[in-house]
Amino acid sequence: MDFKDLVQKRRSIRKFTDEPLTPEEVQIILRAALMSPTSKSTRAWHFYVVDDKDMLEKLSQCKSAGAEFVKGAPLAVAVCIDTDATDVWVEDASIAAVTMQYQAADLGLGSCWAQIRLRGQADGTPADDLLRDMLGYPDEQTCVCIIAFGHPAIERKPQDEEKLKWENVHIVS
Ligand SMILES: Cc1cc2nc3c(=O)[nH]c(=O)nc-3n(C[C@H](O)[C@H](O)[C@H](O)COP(=O)(O)O)c2cc1C
Repeated sequence: MDFKDLVQKRRSIRKFTDEPLTPEEVQIILRAALMSPTSKSTRAWHFYVVDDKDMLEKLSQCKSAGAEFVKGAPLAVAVCIDTDATDVWVEDASIAAVTMQYQAADLGLGSCWAQIRLRGQADGTPADDLLRDMLGYPDEQTCVCIIAFGHPAIERKPQDEEKLKWENVHIVS
C-alpha cells in the first residue's frame, strides 16, 4: 500500500485480538520511532515497551478515563522524553508516537494513542507520576502518551474523503 492510501486507512483501534505481535513487528515499530525526526537531532525520547498483562492493566488505570483500551492490547509503548534535553519535547515525543502508529498501520496492525501529558486521576494526581512509579523512569523524563498496538478486532472505515476539512487550508498568495 502506498503512503497516500495508508494515511486514509489508519484509524484509531481500541479493540484487539489476543494475538501477540511478533518480535519482528515490535522491532520494526520501535525502529520507526528511533528514526523519527527530532529538533536539533536531540533524540531525547525513551520508549518503555510493555507486553505483560498485569502491567498493561495497571497502565490502563493511570488516568481516570480514556486509557481503558490499553489493558486489552497485547503491546503498549509509553513514550517518554527527557525534558531537560530539549525545549520542544512535546513535539519530539509526539512525532515519534505518530510515526509508530503509521508504521503499525503499514504492518496491518491497529493502534491508539492514550494521552498522558496533562491527564491524571480525578483527585488531581498526574498520570505521569503514577507511570513513573510503575515503569521506573527517572525524574527528568516525562511520559507524553502511551500507544497501544495489536491486531484489530474491529474493522473501521477509512477516512472519508468527503469530510476532509479543506476549508481549514488557507492558500496564502
Ligand atoms: C493528542 C491525542 C490524544 C489522544 N488521546 C486519546 C485518549 O486519551 N484516549 C483515546 O481513546 N483516544 C485518544 N486519541 C485518539 C483520538 O481520539 C483519535 O485520533 C480521533 O478520534 C480521530 O480518530 P482516528 O484516529 O480514527 O482518525 C488521541 C489522539 C491524539 C492525536
